[in-house]
Amino acid sequence: MTTWHANAKLTLSLRILQRRSDGFHDLDALTVSVSEPHDTVRVDMGAGRDRVEVALTGPETKGITTGADNLAARAARKLLDRALDARRASGVRIALHKQIPAAAGLGGGSADAAAVLHALNRSLALNLSTFEIASLGADLGSDIPFCVHGGAAFMRGRGEIIEPTTLPELHVLVAVPPFAIATPPVFRAWDVLGGPHSDRVVTGPAGVGELVNDLEPAAERVEPHVRDFREALERAAAAPAILAGSGSACAVLFDDPDAAEAARARVDESAIARLVVVGRTRARGVEPVEP
Ligand code: C5P
Repeated sequence: MTTWHANAKLTLSLRILQRRSDGFHDLDALTVSVSEPHDTVRVDMGAGRDRVEVALTGPETKGITTGADNLAARAARKLLDRALDARRASGVRIALHKQIPAAAGLGGGSADAAAVLHALNRSLALNLSTFEIASLGADLGSDIPFCVHGGAAFMRGRGEIIEPTTLPELHVLVAVPPFAIATPPVFRAWDVLGGPHSDRVVTGPAGVGELVNDLEPAAERVEPHVRDFREALERAAAAPAILAGSGSACAVLFDDPDAAEAARARVDESAIARLVVVGRTRARGVEPVEP
């Protein structure tokens, strides 16, 4: 049995280069792992031959399925298929304690899948490199390679090209509104709008540079409330906010932990968000939890 923290993924800046012939989009995105929110993923062998079972607990299970389509289950299936018969025979039980909301732009399902890939690489003694695990994950979802590597990185291509980078430690306030936004309609809206580049530039803390999100106009088209939410967050936090990927979460970046906590108190008091957390950037997307 192994237990892992699966950290949320936060896109700090996102340029979309073009729509591809396969319907996906070529990206150039600066992305970080953050400690909050995170899911906790426990992986046990022993569900029985060829079985992958998923159980859910925690406050953010809404919209998460436990069937074969669950990304963590698909990740398990993929590694089981590569294991020796004797090991494969035991099957896998996955317990997901969900604290990362779905359809918030925080990569929760991808983080869980990345944790399962790391866990089963170890439990099934597959000895795959991180690069190989990331490449298996890329078949399942565009955000999984980043979640497998974690830290701070540029995501390019569809998301499968990861170029690690170095950023100063950030304290990150993540605020989730009472509405969700699914990703595919936002990319479709970007196409319909003619592929706009966002002209709203947020200046991040020192060493982070200027941040843009080309999906912001498209997300506002799909869910107009996201703009009001972001502006209310900026008033409460007294600092500019970024949209997390395709939304619906927004985030405010700080280099000072006390400033982040003070902003969290004000955002809590404003009662605009259904979830407000402060985390910090982490060097890994998936971290083992010692028993
Ligand atoms: O790869 P994944 O299944 O996570 O992507 C979800 C959706 O996001 C895709 O169906 C597609 O609409 C959109 N997407 C995209 N280009 C990317 C990543 C995601 O168009 N690079």
